Amino acid sequence: MSLLEVRGLQVAYGGIRAVRGIDLDVPEGEVRCLIGANGAGKTSTLKALSGLLTPAAGGIRYDGQDIVGIPPHRLVRQGLAMAPEGRGIFGRLTVLENLQMGAYSQTGSARIQSSLERVFELFPRLAERRRQTAGTLSGGEQQMLSLGRALMARPRLLLLDEPTMGLAPRMVSAVFDALRLIAGQGVTLLLVEQNARMALRLANYGYVLESGTVALQGTAETLAEDPRVREAYLG
Ligand SMILES: Nc1ncnc2c1ncn2[C@@H]1O[C@H](COP(=O)(O)OP(=O)(O)OP(=O)(O)O)[C@@H](O)[C@H]1O
Ligand SMILES: [Mg+2]
Repeated sequence: MSLLEVRGLQVAYGGIRAVRGIDLDVPEGEVRCLIGANGAGKTSTLKALSGLLTPAAGGIRYDGQDIVGIPPHRLVRQGLAMAPEGRGIFGRLTVLENLQMGAYSQTGSARIQSSLERVFELFPRLAERRRQTAGTLSGGEQQMLSLGRALMARPRLLLLDEPTMGLAPRMVSAVFDALRLIAGQGVTLLLVEQNARMALRLANYGYVLESGTVALQGTAETLAEDPRVREAYLG
């Protein structure tokens, strides 16, 4: 049994069917990625998995439990967290306040303190800027903060929506380095990325989403060598 099992998932916005019946599995301890063009349904899929959207059809099992209809804050408490696209941080709050908000599902100040230390170890830049207003951070720093905030919930499964979007190459590498460390600490990852090259280097298995369906799937090595993937996503 995989930590996350998705069967026949459909997401619709009024008459528009954005996700048309997809199956996904994310076994515990693995890093899996979801790649696909703009509008393929990647964000819609992650929103359904994290409880932000109710699927039109299909089943989602997390740790053996049917989680359709469970609100996001309860899923976070059960270890299923998401770092959203566009970062979703609170611009007027400080770095520290944003991180503390990420720990809302946690109890015990010692535990929260140790989570904070872990995040600051992973992202020393955030430690230096802990009193800075989040809205004044650079794009890359805001991305680190978004990841750091998701980690404050001590996730068992972390859903990541384009964590490197809009970042300069050096920042992209820094984010992937951090993700590698996070995965190394035993956190299971489902990563949505347009940067297929980097995603397929980090992940061990991937899904290619096209127009709301899984067009291709396989081990990262297989996908990286697939002519269709090379042409469309690895340029
Ligand atoms: N709130 C919404 N209302 C109506 N249509 C929506 C809504 N959100 C997304 N869609 C549509 O659903 C489809 C899938 O969108 P989604 O955001 O899931 O794509 P994506 O793969 O994440 O794309 P991108 O790479 O650009 O982030 C798109 O055609 C989009 O226009
Ligand atoms: Mg998206």
